[in-house]
Amino acid sequence: MNTVVRLMLPVLLVLAIAGCQQATGERNPINNDKGEEVMTKTGKHVLQDLPYAHNALEPYIDERTMEIHHGKHHQAYVNNLNSAIEGTELENMPLEEIFRNMSQHPAAVRNNGGGHWNHDLFWNIMGPDAGGKPSGDLLRSIEKHFGSFSDFQEAFSRAGATRFGSGWAWLIVNANGELQVTSTPNQDNPLMDVADVRGTPILGLDVWEHAYYLKYQNRRPEYLSNFWNVVNWEEVERRYAEAIK
Ligand SMILES: [Fe+2]
Repeated sequence: MNTVVRLMLPVLLVLAIAGCQQATGERNPINNDKGEEVMTKTGKHVLQDLPYAHNALEPYIDERTMEIHHGKHHQAYVNNLNSAIEGTELENMPLEEIFRNMSQHPAAVRNNGGGHWNHDLFWNIMGPDAGGKPSGDLLRSIEKHFGSFSDFQEAFSRAGATRFGSGWAWLIVNANGELQVTSTPNQDNPLMDVADVRGTPILGLDVWEHAYYLKYQNRRPEYLSNFWNVVNWEEVERRYAEAIK
C-alpha cells in the first residue's frame, strides 16, 4: 500500500461511516452542556435523569410528586413526542426550531414538545439548598425592570396564580433584551410562535395540578410561595447570561 493510500484510509473510513448514517437516517447523538445525550442518533428525544434525588426538594416539593411528575408525566411527554414526530420532517430537529413555527405543526407536537422542553427547564432551575436571591447582573436587571426583588416575586406569583386551569408562569428575556413576566396555557411556552408574549424563558414554574396536588391539594398559592425555597438562582443566572449574549 503506498503512502498516499495509507494516509487517506482514515478519511475514507469516516466518509463511508457518515454515508451509511445518512442512508439509514442516523446522525450523531446530540448532547447537552453536561454531556448527557438529549437526542439519540436516530432522532429520538431522551428523558434526562433528575439532577438531584427525588426527595431533594422536601419539604417544599414532596418525593412522591417528583417521582410521578418526572417518571410518569415527563416520560409520557417524551414518548408521545417521539411518536408524533416519527418519520416526519421534525425528526432530528431541535425543539427550539420546531417552536419557532409551532403554529404549522400538529397539536401532539405542540403539547408533548412543550411538555418535554418545559419540564427539562423546570428540573434544572430548581435544586436542594437553594432559594434566596439572585446576584450580579440578573439581580440588577430584576430591580431595574420590577422595582425590587420582592416586587418581581409578587408579579411572578400573580402570573402563576391567575393562570386559569393548567399552564406555566415564566420569567423571560424578550426581544429587546428586557426581563418580563408572562404565563402560557397548557404546555405552551414563550419560544412558540403561538405565544402571546414571546422571549427566552430563564425561569419557569409548572402550575398544573399534577405539580402540587398530592401535597397542596387546591392550595396553589402555598405551592407558589414555597417555590422560592427551591429556585436554583445560579442556573437562572447562567440562562440569563446566555439569553442576553
Ligand atoms: Fe408538569
